Amino acid sequence: MKQFLKNFQTTPINYGNAGHAFYDVMKWVQANRPKSKPNIIMPSYIPGKLYRFVMAAGYETKFYDVSTQLDFSVDEIRGLIDDQTQMVFAVHFFGIPVDMEPLKKLTQEMDVFLMEDCSHTLNSHWNGKTLGTTGDFTIFSTRKMLQFHCGGFLILNNKPWHFQPSRKEKVNSLFTGYHMLGSRVKYHLNHLTRGKNVFQKMRIPEVGYIDYDEEQIVTVKRMDRLLEGYYPHVNVEKISRKRRENVSYLWNHIDDLETFSPVGFDRLSVHKTESRNSQSGDASSQQKYQLIEGYVPFSLPILTPPSSRNFIQQKLLNRGITCYIGWTEAPFGLEGFQGAEQLQKQLLELPIHHHINRYQLEIMADCLNNLKITRQPYSFSKGSFLSSDL
Ligand SMILES: Cc1ncc(COP(=O)(O)O)c(C=O)c1O
Repeated sequence: MKQFLKNFQTTPINYGNAGHAFYDVMKWVQANRPKSKPNIIMPSYIPGKLYRFVMAAGYETKFYDVSTQLDFSVDEIRGLIDDQTQMVFAVHFFGIPVDMEPLKKLTQEMDVFLMEDCSHTLNSHWNGKTLGTTGDFTIFSTRKMLQFHCGGFLILNNKPWHFQPSRKEKVNSLFTGYHMLGSRVKYHLNHLTRGKNVFQKMRIPEVGYIDYDEEQIVTVKRMDRLLEGYYPHVNVEKISRKRRENVSYLWNHIDDLETFSPVGFDRLSVHKTESRNSQSGDASSQQKYQLIEGYVPFSLPILTPPSSRNFIQQKLLNRGITCYIGWTEAPFGLEGFQGAEQLQKQLLELPIHHHINRYQLEIMADCLNNLKITRQPYSFSKGSFLSSDL
């Protein structure tokens, strides 16, 4: 971790989570460069949690659409910037890098700040640049990427004014200790039982929500001691390698990549010439697809055929694999965001974090390979997909 942090010019500022850092930055910018009705330009595909933080900071949100391949149009963003805009927010969704350079140029030209959201990645680079070094401000979520219950940090690549974190409360260490212990027990159990869901404790994860009538209040928390003590023991290289290997396994073992279409696959994959059916037995020759250098993912998002997502999620759960489904609350009832609407209905995140073991990957591939879902035809009387499993 120490090595990775050397990529940044400034020391990370630790928080209870990435969202707290984001909130603090919004308040800081507004305090130093006040606007009567400050706004922020955000992707329309985000968790309700982030939207709530924006509201709590007293900003208005102007949304831009996100394509089903999780990128965006710089021109659309340009058209949204006005004299009340404080910053543009860009996300490397699920670890899939977006090109920050055109956004950097645009935000410099328009004199607004650029917030880079690296909550879904760590130790990654794109076009020769470490992710997190381009935005004026960058947030990281170590709780997500290190599978820790709490934790995030802020990098200020640009510090136009003195910054003092506002966090006043500490994350309760008993709470963190309890959850951390729980996750270690789960991890060892997974290995011992070869990924079997022995206690049948898996559930469909809860989905986000947003209540527009509620007053949004954020209590910014700190978590310095624990994180500073923990980071030196984190082998980021090993974690990145494991996450990459897990994605590579699934790419190379899911038979029908057209149906269970990995988002951003064209940008992220390198095709190797040897087929994975090669008889040579050499592990590398069995890989048909390789990940591009520098891509360190949070999860493996796939775009499922229309109306099949929840069915697939349940099938995987029946085999002991819990999958998230992105953010079903987005695009927050707003119209005109086709990409976000499609993602909201069709995206499924296959877990590939560093605690996922080979048996669980085999289960995932086997489950998808046996679902017999096809993309076409898709318009039964129920508006459903074709599956012999129904
Ligand atoms: C894209 C994105 N950015 C930021 C955050 C905030 O991260 P944290 O949970 O560490 O506050 C989340 C969490 O849901 C997220 O999905």
